[in-house]
Amino acid sequence: MLVSAKEMLNKARDGKYAVGQFNINNLEWTKAILLTAEECKSPVILGVSEGAGKYMCGYSTIVGMVKGMIENLHITVPVALHLDHGTFEGAKACINAGFSSIMFDGSHYPIEENIAKTTALVNTCDVLGISLEAEVGAIGGEEDGVIGKGECADPKECKMVADLGVTMLAAGIGNIHGKYPADWEGLSFDTLEKIKAEVGDMPLVLHGGTGIPDDMIKKAISLGVAKINVNTECQLVFQEATRKYIEEGKDLQGKGFDPRKLLAPGFEAIKATVKEKMELFGSVNKA
Ligand code: 13P
Repeated sequence: MLVSAKEMLNKARDGKYAVGQFNINNLEWTKAILLTAEECKSPVILGVSEGAGKYMCGYSTIVGMVKGMIENLHITVPVALHLDHGTFEGAKACINAGFSSIMFDGSHYPIEENIAKTTALVNTCDVLGISLEAEVGAIGGEEDGVIGKGECADPKECKMVADLGVTMLAAGIGNIHGKYPADWEGLSFDTLEKIKAEVGDMPLVLHGGTGIPDDMIKKAISLGVAKINVNTECQLVFQEATRKYIEEGKDLQGKGFDPRKLLAPGFEAIKATVKEKMELFGSVNKA
């Protein structure tokens, strides 16, 4: 069922586990995540970046694909279809296309503008029953080969944004997208504790789930993180499985491109990664 992420995240917060957001890039990826969620009896959030949205033809194509898969694959666990790091315009487009969850990332605006834009989306999402994620304190990552340091959000600003009535809040605690640098200092649990003290019951979101050591993931969950985003790790395992398959040269001679063969190892690799994450996050059998 395509649902808002609100109920699954409130349950996760109360039950001290986290729901995984796995980003999707194509049909195989989406199918692998949905089938694994069903096998694990886990709620799941499918993340769509604006770039991936364009690649997959646009938001209504994605809504059609996901709804169709839920029906045709007999998926019974709760599934939220979520815009990842949306612009204000992108958020509105996804609301119109039928997404069940939206992230508006206003973290690069001055806090007043982030608040104004987030506020404008709160009412619309409320009326339509769509969950809304806001962000405070930019989450860094690699740009032009340079890996930026993860920022730590200001706990007072987190409270200001949480009080607007959003469903969940992404706050920088030293986490970054993509691979972590060798000299990474780790998550700032001190910041996380201060944010939690300010925002109370608000489910917190941890971006940059790839490469964070398991013990840090578990500690973050124990301190109020109820949603964890994973993207790069799925890309890496898909790439590696496909590379290996091509190198081994199986079934490729003279037969032309057959996605059912070439993409099968990547599909299986994503399934295994998603299962591993659901076990680590504690969401198995929580649907
Ligand atoms: P990673 O690519 O580091 O797993 O982060 C994913 C993410 O946070 C998407 O918003």
